[in-house]
This record gives sequence, C-alpha cells and structure tokens, in this order.
Amino acid sequence: MAVVAPKVLSLQTIFLLLMMVSLSKAVLNAHYYDQTCPQAEKIIVDTVYNASKHDPKVPARLLRMFFHDCFIRGCDASVLLDSTPGNRAEKDGPPNISIRSFYVIDDAKTKLEMACPHTVSCADIISIAARDVVAMTGGPYWNVLKGRKDGRVSKAAETINLPAPTFNVSQLIRSIAKRGLGVKDLVALSGGHSLGFSHCSSFEARLRNFSSAHDTDPSMNVEFAESLRKKCPKPNKDRNTGQFLDSTSSTFDNDYYKRILAAKGVFGSDQALFGDYRTKFIVEAFAEDQSLFFREFAASMVKLGNVGVIENGEVRLKCRAVN
Ligand code: HEM
Ligand SMILES: *[C@@H]1O[C@H](CO)[C@@H](O)[C@H](O)[C@H]1NC(C)=O
Ligand SMILES: *[C@@H]1O[C@H](CO)[C@@H](O)[C@H](O)[C@H]1NC(C)=O
Ligand SMILES: *[C@@H]1O[C@H](CO)[C@@H](O)[C@H](O)[C@H]1NC(C)=O
Ligand SMILES: *[C@@H]1O[C@H](CO)[C@@H](O)[C@H](O)[C@H]1NC(C)=O
Repeated sequence: MAVVAPKVLSLQTIFLLLMMVSLSKAVLNAHYYDQTCPQAEKIIVDTVYNASKHDPKVPARLLRMFFHDCFIRGCDASVLLDSTPGNRAEKDGPPNISIRSFYVIDDAKTKLEMACPHTVSCADIISIAARDVVAMTGGPYWNVLKGRKDGRVSKAAETINLPAPTFNVSQLIRSIAKRGLGVKDLVALSGGHSLGFSHCSSFEARLRNFSSAHDTDPSMNVEFAESLRKKCPKPNKDRNTGQFLDSTSSTFDNDYYKRILAAKGVFGSDQALFGDYRTKFIVEAFAEDQSLFFREFAASMVKLGNVGVIENGEVRLKCRAVN
C-alpha cells in the first residue's frame, strides 16, 4: 500500500499518526514483566529446555499448541482449560486435536507462581515457550510481546474453526484472514511444519481413492506416496503410525519448503502452497533463502501472538482451570 503524504502534514504529524495506529493495537509489550517478574522468561526457557531434553517431541507440541491457542478465541490459553462436568473443552474437541505436553506449561506455571505469584498469564507462557522451542531447535529468536490475559471459556465445538489439512489455498487464506493475517503469514507460519509428526489420519485421504480421476493425489511425488502407503496400511491396527513433517523434524530449518518443491509435502494444505500463484513464489523464496524465511517466520509469529488478545481476562493461578 503506497501512502502519499499530503504536503500539509509535517513529518512529525505523520510519525504521531503512525504511533497512534500502532499504539491502538499494542496492548502487548516486550517489557511487560520487567518490573513484576524479571525472571519469568528464564524460568520458562529452563523448564522448556529440560522437558525437551527428556522428550524430543516437546518442541513440536508446544509450537503447535501456540497455533491452536491463537486460532481459537485468540491467544488466551483457552486450549489449556480442562473439561468440566458441564463443559467439554477444546483439548477434548472433535477433530481430536492431538496437542500434548501440557505438563510443561503446568511446570512452568508452578515455578512462576512461586517466584512471582499471580503475575504471569498462561497465554504468555505459551507464547514464550513457542519462541523458545523454535530458537532451541535452530530457528530464529524474537522478542515476545507480553501482557495477554487468560480467558474463561473453552469449547470443544469451536475446534471446527481450525484450518484442515485438506484445505486448498483459498480456504487457507480465508481462515487466516479471519485472524487478521495475510498470505505471507500463511506461507511463513506453515513453516512450523519444519518440526514434528503427523498421524496417518491427517493425510491418508491423499493416498488411496483420492478422487474419481486419481487414485493418489497427483500433486504428490509417486515414490513418496508409496512410502506413505507402507507407513499407513489399510486397515491400520496402530493409530499411532504416521510421518515426520520434514526430513529434519527436530531441527527448525527451511527443509519443509524444499520438500514442497519436491512434491513431498505431507498435508494437502502444505503441497497446495506450491500449486497456487498467490503462494508459490513465496515457497520458492523461502526454499532458497533460509535467513529470509527465519525473518518472516519471526515477524509472523509476533503477529500470530497478537490475534484476539483480551484485556478483560484474568491471570489464572492454574492453567487448567479458571480462577
Ligand atoms: C495453515 C494451516 C495448518 C494446518 C491445516 C495444519 C494442520 C496440521 C495437522 C493436521 C497436523 C498433524 C496432527 C496429527 O495428525 O497429529 C499438524 C501438526 C503440526 N502443526 Fe500444523 N497446521 C497448520 C498450521 C500450523 C502453524 C501455523 C503452526 C505453527 C506455527 C503449526 C505447527 C504444527 C506442528 C509443530 C505440528 C507437529 C505437532 C507434533 O509433532 O506433535 N501448524 N498441523
Ligand atoms: C526435568 O524434566 C524431568 C522430566 O520431565 C523432570 O522429572 C525433572 O524434574 C525436571 N527437572 C527440572 C530441574 O525441572
Ligand atoms: C480425544 O482423545 C482422547 C484421548 O485419546 C479421548 O479420550 C477423547 O474421547 C477423544 N475425543 C474425541 C472427540 O474424539
Ligand atoms: C477450494 O475449495 C473450495 C471448497 O471445497 C471450493 O469451492 C473451491 O472451488 C476451491 N478453490 C480452488 C481454487 O481450488
Ligand atoms: C472409492 O470411492 C468411491 C466413491 O467415493 C467409492 O464408491 C468406492 O467404494 C471407493 N473405493 C474404495 C476401495 O474405497
């Protein structure tokens, strides 16, 4: 968007206007806990680091947790609330969203409550942990804006609003536009699939009886499809089988985009990014230039962390239950 400044506006006025625009959005602040809990980020990174050392699945799970939290009701830790007798919460929702490692957030929260009681929100813990797992697996580092409050509502039925791995680019763009994010954010954030694992159920529709014209999704490399069919037999006795999302699934890098170029994206929604003119050139740029990907990923994670931030929530004492 090109802004042509009328001559009557001085540079100072323009700066002021720009500041007001950014201030009106920024309830969040990089220095939010500087006075009230200066050791907050250290406590969180230590907890996340120790947990990841004991269980290498932790980084991917915490990164995915952040995405889910922010996409449903905004970044308000609604994903952490347990179901209660009267209410089925997001974490028990259909489609079963298979996010785990909640204990890591619980551990960090327990330590934070001892160090600075009733200060650090669970939503901020998730967003700091998501940055930490990316940095500790080789990805970029960024300053996390803080000051989110925790929500009081979590509804299983709302997980239907997560984008599905079968989405095409139009559907993906619509889904993220509802959260104020753009096409570049979509391609950059999809790079989160540089970490982690998927169960067969999330991609097996691409492998057999795909459409009336194609038995296998034609956008998938033939040998890759064959290897996935072996990993996901039909019928499948083991619900835990699946595929790593890229060939370096415990290192955060741009290999995800290189695999998409090679028709080896695991989800239809990953591979679709290469089949659409609106996203293809961004995939190519990130495959070619890892430092560009890192910069854009960090910037998009900050934007994702701003989605639906609430001011009238609470700081939960335990992340699994409202106060
Ligand atoms: C754009 C739309 C997206 C779709 C359709 C999507 C879909 C999925 C699906 C289906 C899974 C596998 C679930 C399973 O079978 O266990 C998954 C895993 C994962 N997603 Fe996404 N996702 C999207 C965006 C994101 C974003 C924005 C991030 C983070 C920035 C992210 C991070 C992850 C990670 C790290 C995993 C692996 C989790 C693990 O290993 O436990 N995803 N995603
Ligand atoms: C490190 O993690 C392990 C496994 O999660 C846990 O048993 C242990 O108490 C942790 N240690 C610290 C210092 O947090
Ligand atoms: C989700 O998974 C959990 C644990 O495997 C299970 O208890 C729950 O019933 C599942 N929920 C749905 C909606 O499938
Ligand atoms: C994307 O999917 C929707 C819903 O299935 C469909 O209506 C639309 O035509 C598709 N768009 C493209 C560009 O394939
Ligand atoms: C493939 O799909 C068609 C139409 O949806 C269905 O009639 C047929 O039974 C399916 N075949 C297999 C082997 O699942």
